[in-house]
Amino acid sequence: MIKAGRSKEEILKYVSEEIYEIAYARYLAMNKISFYDKIYSDLDGIRKYATYEDVAKYKAKRLKCDIIADLGCGVGIQLIFFARECNFVYGVEINEKRYKYCIKNLRKMGLKNFEIIHGDALSKEVYERIKDVDIIFSDPSREIKGEIKMEYLSPNPIKIYEMYKSKTDNFAFDLPVQIRKEKIPFDCELEYQAYFKEPFRATAYLGELKKCEKSVVILPYNIRLEYNESLDRDLKPTDEIKSYIYLLNRTINLADLIPEAVEYLRTNYKNIYLIYRDKRRCLLTSDDYFKSEIVECYEVLKTCKENELKECLEKVNAKKVYLRFEVDPNKYYEIKRSLERGLRGKEKIYIFKIKDKYILTKKLY
Ligand SMILES: C[S@@+](CC[C@H](N)C(=O)[O-])C[C@H]1O[C@@H](n2cnc3c(N)ncnc32)[C@H](O)[C@@H]1O
Repeated sequence: MIKAGRSKEEILKYVSEEIYEIAYARYLAMNKISFYDKIYSDLDGIRKYATYEDVAKYKAKRLKCDIIADLGCGVGIQLIFFARECNFVYGVEINEKRYKYCIKNLRKMGLKNFEIIHGDALSKEVYERIKDVDIIFSDPSREIKGEIKMEYLSPNPIKIYEMYKSKTDNFAFDLPVQIRKEKIPFDCELEYQAYFKEPFRATAYLGELKKCEKSVVILPYNIRLEYNESLDRDLKPTDEIKSYIYLLNRTINLADLIPEAVEYLRTNYKNIYLIYRDKRRCLLTSDDYFKSEIVECYEVLKTCKENELKECLEKVNAKKVYLRFEVDPNKYYEIKRSLERGLRGKEKIYIFKIKDKYILTKKLY
């Protein structure tokens, strides 16, 4: 009924509020989890918190050990994947409804190697119930929007670390992907995770789990780049626009691992150069056409000055234009419409801008 677009009031004539909420959560989980039709959850448990299956699988493989504890386990999506990799898992959840759903979810998946504890992960009672543990994991919820501070996360990773460090040195904390490494008060590896093109989470790995200072992983492709201190971090952009523009995956730019990405691409394609970078995008250029999961590729059709834009758009047979440079978001559609006015061509044209040059391109992938 939800899929068919029936209203909540109408559906509630047939089922209880709780059943409605579980059904809605399953509907929202459709694009995150393959077993969405078996999940018990409240709406926030899926909408705000639950991890994508590919990300959860990746993390469970990286954190494979004998015993792991997930402090603030929600309805247990990540925990299901831990339980498939580890010998035993503890889950701790403060919200009673999610605690009950979590037990149901693990049972429904046929798992038996778990203990779910209802309570505050930072309380003495919970601390004492977690006996031997190899890794403490936590994916805290964010209490306050805007600035990202450890104090705004619940359970607070700093307090978790202080309390549980007598049990293990190995911690992994999921953090909002916008976090900067300087803000994290731990000696850790900060791994940024992208799900396809979109930045998704960042995970701080402590103790023996730390493999390097910083890394990025692009899922579901499993492409991992690690910070390499021997690389020149001050890459100078070239001035020469070549036949193709490659737009680098945003998460790599966010993680500030551009030299590592260029090095990665150069192992197969030697002639690739940085041409532009700002906070939002990093552009590379090459005369070679190649395919890679860490870039989008655009063929350069023309370059021109601002006053030649309309004329050049006609020459490249444009119909629609997409701006791929910094513009005031309130003016984006106004500029787009004014450029599209009068165009009679067939092509979708993507426009990049470097200094005062506009680059008219066609997207290849
Ligand atoms: C982001 S969600 C976890 C989602 C989970 N990783 C998943 O994949 O389904 C964080 C959870 O931590 C719980 N939580 C917050 N503070 C807590 C505390 N002090 N002790 C235990 N659980 C807590 C919240 O109720 C919430 O369900």
